[in-house]
Amino acid sequence: MSLDALYALIAEDMRSVDAVIRERLYSEVVLIRQVAEYIINSGGKRMRPALVVLCAGAAGYRGGHRHELAAVVEFIHTATLLHDDVVDESDLRRGNKTANAMFGNAASVLVGDFLYSRAFQMMVSVGSMRVQQILADATNTIAEGEVLQLLNVHNADADVEQYLQVIRFKTAKLFEAAARLGAVLGGLSPEEEDGYARYGMHLGTAFQLIDDVLDYSGDEEALGKHLGDDLAEGKPTLPLIHVLLHGNAEQAACVRRAIEEGGRDEFAGVMAAIHATGALDETRRRAAEEARLAKEAISVAGDSVFKESLVNLADFAVTRDH
Ligand code: IPE
Ligand code: IPE
Ligand code: MG
Ligand code: MG
Repeated sequence: MSLDALYALIAEDMRSVDAVIRERLYSEVVLIRQVAEYIINSGGKRMRPALVVLCAGAAGYRGGHRHELAAVVEFIHTATLLHDDVVDESDLRRGNKTANAMFGNAASVLVGDFLYSRAFQMMVSVGSMRVQQILADATNTIAEGEVLQLLNVHNADADVEQYLQVIRFKTAKLFEAAARLGAVLGGLSPEEEDGYARYGMHLGTAFQLIDDVLDYSGDEEALGKHLGDDLAEGKPTLPLIHVLLHGNAEQAACVRRAIEEGGRDEFAGVMAAIHATGALDETRRRAAEEARLAKEAISVAGDSVFKESLVNLADFAVTRDH
């Protein structure tokens, strides 16, 4: 199922979320508006705010806070992208030049800080200590994930557990928070809330596993990002770890050199090793398993069109090409 078809149910909500985003992007400081509007106007899938809205819907909540919190989650996501593209030295995002390529690293980092702090102003306005706790914890964990990943760059001995911890922290945690917020807005029981949260965590893990597959096999046009960036940075993602564990000595040595040295010199050899060892299929298989666990977790929700969409979203995370 396409994302458009999936969002049809919440089209009106997503327009309201967009209105909140536009309104809250405002600053007297012109450069902030330029950079923030630049990245927001480039689009993006808006999956995390959609998750807040869908989970709130499944939890039976119809109040206005869901739009505000959906926008908060997208601001936090956008701030992480601004920072991530500086750290990763990426120059293509959402089919456009990255903000760092357009405005420089300093502007990107500082506007990322603006978005983070604006998100905190907005969440405080909702007036729920529980909501603040969820978002403060998520933001802190994302930062830990990005730093853990930094420590693993050029580390060819990083193992599957370390890799999974990085992706749970840097990516899945915000999906988890988005889903949990929907449950909290609906005033669900702790057990139900836990089911929504686990759904988000597994969904986010599947989503990042596929991101790491697409970095080796995607279509740049559809993805709006350059392929091969992970390899160039020396990031030990699961496709590479798979070759290190299951490739022959020559294949493993090639991947080890690529991780340790970064750059694109080993690109052809790495691609051949990835294909020969079925590394992408194995990573996809793990993503599918995470999506299955996500669907199992969301079975705590009562039947509704929203729940159906959450199930479809888990499938999209695995089959997506963008
Ligand atoms: C990009 O997330 C960062 C990752 C966690 C892989 P998305 O792929 O959701 O980015 P946009 O918002 O759609 O551009
Ligand atoms: C992004 O990870 C995770 C966060 C933004 C926290 P990646 O570095 O893999 O994402 P892309 O590929 O740049 O979107
Ligand atoms: Mg990146
Ligand atoms: Mg990536």
